[in-house]
Amino acid sequence: MTAPVVAPCALDEARPPALAERRAGPCTMIIFGARGDLTRRKLLPALAHLACDGLLDPTFAVVGVGRAAGGDDAFRSEMRDVIDDSEELRGTGSATRERFLERLWWVEGDLRAADTYQRLADCLASIEGADAPNRGRLFYLAIPPSLYPEVIRHLSVSGLAPRVDDDRAAWVRVIIEKPFGHDMASARELNRQVSETLGEHQIFRIDHYLGKETVQNLLVLRFANSLLEPVWNRDHIAHVQITAAESVGVEHRASYYEEAGVLRDMFQNHLLQLLTLTAMEPPNTFEADAVRTEKVKVLGAIVPVTPALAPTMSAVGQYGEGMIDGEHVRAYRDEPGVDRASRVPTYAAARFEVANWRWEGVPFFLRSGKRMHRRVTEIAIQFRRPPHLMFPLRDGERIEPNVLVIGIQPDEGISLRFEVKVPGVDVRLAPVRMVFSYADAFGASSHSAYETLLLDCMLGDATLFTRADAVEGAWRVIDPIIQGWQQLPAADIPIYEAGSWGPAGAAALIARDGARWRTP
Ligand code: BG6
Repeated sequence: MTAPVVAPCALDEARPPALAERRAGPCTMIIFGARGDLTRRKLLPALAHLACDGLLDPTFAVVGVGRAAGGDDAFRSEMRDVIDDSEELRGTGSATRERFLERLWWVEGDLRAADTYQRLADCLASIEGADAPNRGRLFYLAIPPSLYPEVIRHLSVSGLAPRVDDDRAAWVRVIIEKPFGHDMASARELNRQVSETLGEHQIFRIDHYLGKETVQNLLVLRFANSLLEPVWNRDHIAHVQITAAESVGVEHRASYYEEAGVLRDMFQNHLLQLLTLTAMEPPNTFEADAVRTEKVKVLGAIVPVTPALAPTMSAVGQYGEGMIDGEHVRAYRDEPGVDRASRVPTYAAARFEVANWRWEGVPFFLRSGKRMHRRVTEIAIQFRRPPHLMFPLRDGERIEPNVLVIGIQPDEGISLRFEVKVPGVDVRLAPVRMVFSYADAFGASSHSAYETLLLDCMLGDATLFTRADAVEGAWRVIDPIIQGWQQLPAADIPIYEAGSWGPAGAAALIARDGARWRTP
């Protein structure tokens, strides 16, 4: 078992040099559920990228754990295909790729059986050897949430993941994937179970939205510039729209999605994260607890929509058939694995209020859906109209308010809409956009959200991970909406056409405040 040096690969040329202090120390990452979709699509490519960038220790190792047979060779060969199929990793030289693959091991076993953890301990002992006291362990739970408590209990009983202080070289951290709980009660119970065996500083609840470049840039935009802060409040902002639209359907995740629906899948985590970052007060420092405390305060200030008010303060829908990018796509109920009479929402829109000094009376409209017209995630801050307009408007002409749009994907950037005079002898107004594009300014984004978050975890930085109280704070807001819709008599859920911008109810929801959804 040699410890190869991770050489820079071809990708390095395109990437900015990494900061030495951002290099992870020696550690092993243990992935439960390593043959699943998440490992193939996100985790392995992210790790390979980090290795190529020289951000992982040369002795970094990955141990996959699961039922699949075939040992190290089968795991490595499957992951070789992942690297070869990844467009972004195409530049990786075969020698670099093989060196990375040599650091992958496989432990076969049932995650519910104690002997699996014994075999895992043996594998870790052989990888870590005498170096164990100087190596960290990162456990990644990429498994169905129903298994979380049992796996965590086994990790604790087997001694593989003891409660340790964070300053130890042999740190132990556990990354837990969403969904964290199915509702408030189950999230609380899960928090309780996890905290019985691990300290909060060892628990990293991941929300990949927080690793996205522009999401982090929102904090920089707000708190590293003095221009915006004076107008970032109820005196100047009329409302905020947060959109996470996807053109994909449920894909092959029907069994999960039938249980989750869009409110659990996107609102409880990603959308509320975007809301808290938009609305939070400036923290004193850019440290995990300072930032996370401010975010939790926002969640606590959101006025919960009661179940009875859910149909008034939110709208839901499910995609029917339609056209996306010129191709016919089937309805949600016709997707494999979906109940033909399913009432699970694939779209939701909701109106929230943050009851505090800064935001009193400013509606925050959130919407997310699958099979929408196009994929776009953005935060749009709509400012108030000027109090008095001295310029004459022609019949039917109206002045558009200023809108600041933080584009998260696919076009990462910031744009500001404002009125200008159209050149000419008369005074006519027209809206224009001033655009900052990440790609134009810095080139295409060079790393994924998972790269950022995995590296942060290895470095012990929990700023971009969700604390226990934030998970519960988010359920407090979303749970009553889910309950409200579930309690309604079994009326059918509104169907929206795939390729549209969602159901009519969503337009009516925002229209009650005299506003309308942007068409991004
Ligand atoms: C996941 C959801 O958390 O986020 C998926 O489970 C969704 O349903 C995905 O498609 C969206 O992520 P992104 O990064 O593509 O916006």
